[in-house]
Amino acid sequence: MKIITSTAEMTVWSKEFQAKGRTIALVPTMGFFHQGHLALMKQAADEADLVVVSLFVNPTQFGEGEDLSSYPRDFERDKELARGQGVDVLFCPEVADMYPGKGLTTVVVEQLTSGLCGASRPGHFDGVTTVVAKLFNVVLPQVAVFGQKDLQQLIVIKRMVLDLNFPIHIIAHPIVREEDGLALSSRNTYLSKYERQRALCLSQALCMAQQHIRQGGNPAQVLDLVHEKIASSSDVEIDYLVLIDDRTLGVCETIDEHAVLAMAVKVGKTRLIDNGWLLTRDK
Ligand code: PAJ
Repeated sequence: MKIITSTAEMTVWSKEFQAKGRTIALVPTMGFFHQGHLALMKQAADEADLVVVSLFVNPTQFGEGEDLSSYPRDFERDKELARGQGVDVLFCPEVADMYPGKGLTTVVVEQLTSGLCGASRPGHFDGVTTVVAKLFNVVLPQVAVFGQKDLQQLIVIKRMVLDLNFPIHIIAHPIVREEDGLALSSRNTYLSKYERQRALCLSQALCMAQQHIRQGGNPAQVLDLVHEKIASSSDVEIDYLVLIDDRTLGVCETIDEHAVLAMAVKVGKTRLIDNGWLLTRDK
């Protein structure tokens, strides 16, 4: 596995292999890999000849008071895990290389970024779309893989690709979970043993909602039920808990194959997100 730290060298590498007719899949990450990241890398290998994984803790997507400085990092471990997945290039640029000087251009996807995580993390998605657009331009992939764990991010990026004519096929990977249901996240490392137990209320609420819908429950009843389930867990605080349409991210009134239960919940100081389709578990 090659490690590339310079944006210029990354582009040269991609162009060289593309000239030989090889296709490239990109998996953008912020590192501290878990099985979710590794599953995306595996999927990327199925989709293209070569896999590039970017590891860049992007400062512009963290708000004031968020965890940029404490975001978990372990480069040596990440390197070995990526190598184990047969990744061809681990691309880890410096902040000064990705953002030389004060950038005057920001990629903003409107509407889709104003609610859900965008409401409690103002500017977050502008940071995400800008860095992903830059990574696309540096790595020049034909395919990029994103996780459904960050459903709003996935939908926002798909929209950016459509609106800005990026010639890149976006592939969605289902949420990878621990055996007990907790969605894997680099931020799970912040949880104490007690909080880790509390955090199960998210996936349990999702299962409860899916079951309730199968038994004929209506959207309002389902929301009441899961709200009660989570609110009754001690030491957790709901940020949002909504039924949305996976195409618009707007509130969905009726349950069909587009209906998703999406939630963000603070467990102790850690904000966790989870989501799932109500009629099909994975899509
Ligand atoms: P990060 O949180 O490191 O996630 C990298 C990718 O892994 C994202 O596409 C995310 O959705 C996916 N992922 C995380 N946990 C997952 C899980 N349990 N199952 C499946 N996929 C999972 O998301 C980011 O980084 C950044 O915002 C980034 C896109 C890299 C831009 O900086």
